Amino acid sequence: MTSKEISRRDFLRLLGISGGAALLSACAPKALTETAFPPTAIPSASTAGRASGGVDVEIALKAVEGEAQILSGKATRVWRYQGEVMSGPADALQIVPNSYLGPIFNVKKGQKIRIHFTNELRESSIVHWHGLHVPVEADGHPRLAIEPGETYIYDFTVLDRAGTYWYHPHPHGRTGPQAYAGLAGLFLISDDEESSLGLPSGDYDLPIVLQDRIFDNNNQLVYGGSGMMDQMMGFLGDQLLVNGQADFSLSVETRPYRLRFLNGSNSRIYKLAWDDGTPLTVLGTDGGLLEKPVKRDYITLAPAQRVELWVDFSKDEIGSERNLVSLPFDAYGGWTEYRVLPVKVEKAVTVSAPIPGTLSTINWHNENEAVNRRSPRDFTLAMGMGMQWSLNNRTFEMESVEKDEIVKLGDLEVWEFKNQAGGGMGMGMGMMNESLPHPMHVHGLQYQVIEREVDSTGRGAWNTLKDGHVDEGWHDTVLVMPGERVKILLKFEDFTGLYLYHCHNLEHEDMGMMRNYRVDA
Ligand code: C2O
Ligand code: CU
Ligand code: CU
Repeated sequence: MTSKEISRRDFLRLLGISGGAALLSACAPKALTETAFPPTAIPSASTAGRASGGVDVEIALKAVEGEAQILSGKATRVWRYQGEVMSGPADALQIVPNSYLGPIFNVKKGQKIRIHFTNELRESSIVHWHGLHVPVEADGHPRLAIEPGETYIYDFTVLDRAGTYWYHPHPHGRTGPQAYAGLAGLFLISDDEESSLGLPSGDYDLPIVLQDRIFDNNNQLVYGGSGMMDQMMGFLGDQLLVNGQADFSLSVETRPYRLRFLNGSNSRIYKLAWDDGTPLTVLGTDGGLLEKPVKRDYITLAPAQRVELWVDFSKDEIGSERNLVSLPFDAYGGWTEYRVLPVKVEKAVTVSAPIPGTLSTINWHNENEAVNRRSPRDFTLAMGMGMQWSLNNRTFEMESVEKDEIVKLGDLEVWEFKNQAGGGMGMGMGMMNESLPHPMHVHGLQYQVIEREVDSTGRGAWNTLKDGHVDEGWHDTVLVMPGERVKILLKFEDFTGLYLYHCHNLEHEDMGMMRNYRVDA
């Protein structure tokens, strides 16, 4: 028996799952009690901020403790974001019905945004706008975390392309548990180019947020139950939630849809495919629309990644059903196939809305102009001494950067993430090194994925996910499989200061698999 087989069996046992059972239970009781989230009063201190003009959208956002009806029976205690538009278009925030998820931001490129974030939790927190190109003061670095009762004001202009971004907490060491408790939401940006395409909108443009959870017998969330394993490997739940619901399904009309997927899970990777084998048509990735739609047999969606799909049900029969599933793959969490999203075709309509042949004109970076084209800045991802996941053998320090983590404003660079397989930290750790993918995220910008290479030890597992990457688009998070090296091309524009790069497996991040990088003038 190879070590891989042993470790796989061990994980299943630790997760309380026997070999043949589906990893995610197929169904949980329906929970449909309408949950009302009354808008909360805006603290007067924040209201005062309104006086300073020149802002297009001003929002009050709070992190609060609350309850959500997720399973039938007892409500689940959650932490959640609540928001209210203080000034600007009323639809700048959209509540997600029956969900603990935070309100969806709907903003336009070019708008000036002010957000008053109030922490009503019992521990410190801060909000990070994942994927957005914002000044350091607005990036939600853990050093900016605020105490209970305090308010932090974010001011930034929306510079990013139309796309599906998101927000979540970022306090040091507590991002995993806070996001797990329910703190997360989508941040959608639109722009003129995108609006002119006539993509499906309104009821036909739908968010699909994927998260996995474990519930106890009282319907309460369980986190860290497997102790050391959860920490080292990353949390995996046995219950899939879509948009915060345990039994989410889509009822669709016979027409095209735009589905925006966010992997909002702490550590689970999805290998998304239709159960009838229909290929998936991709419109966009983390940083917005592709130049033109591309097709994939399946999509690999790592934690924090987004993918936008064009799904056309116009040839489906009324009453028919299809399921989006996650297929098995050879890495942590990929042991079995399970259902992700059941779709029922319920209403016939005739809509002529062909998919646009061209989606976007993109100004790509030119690799040849990178200042370090021949000697990429490289980062080794490995289990370090002290049994912590590390980046170049370092773990997170709040304020400091090393020399090789300082970049120059205006520079275009190549970075290379190397996921070191093997490792020889003793049998247990060696196995983990061998088997763990790391979704690598860089704050403050979108980058291009320009090269992937895998060594012979990693090739087998790599092959089970590689065709699902959509490296054509802009990304802020890229999956780096064991034994793989991934080169990205990034440009440090507009803002100087301290940003982060880290693994977006939230348990790895909390453990210290995160570092600062600094942009110097
Ligand atoms: Cu989505 Cu530093 O995180
Ligand atoms: Cu981020
Ligand atoms: Cu990791």
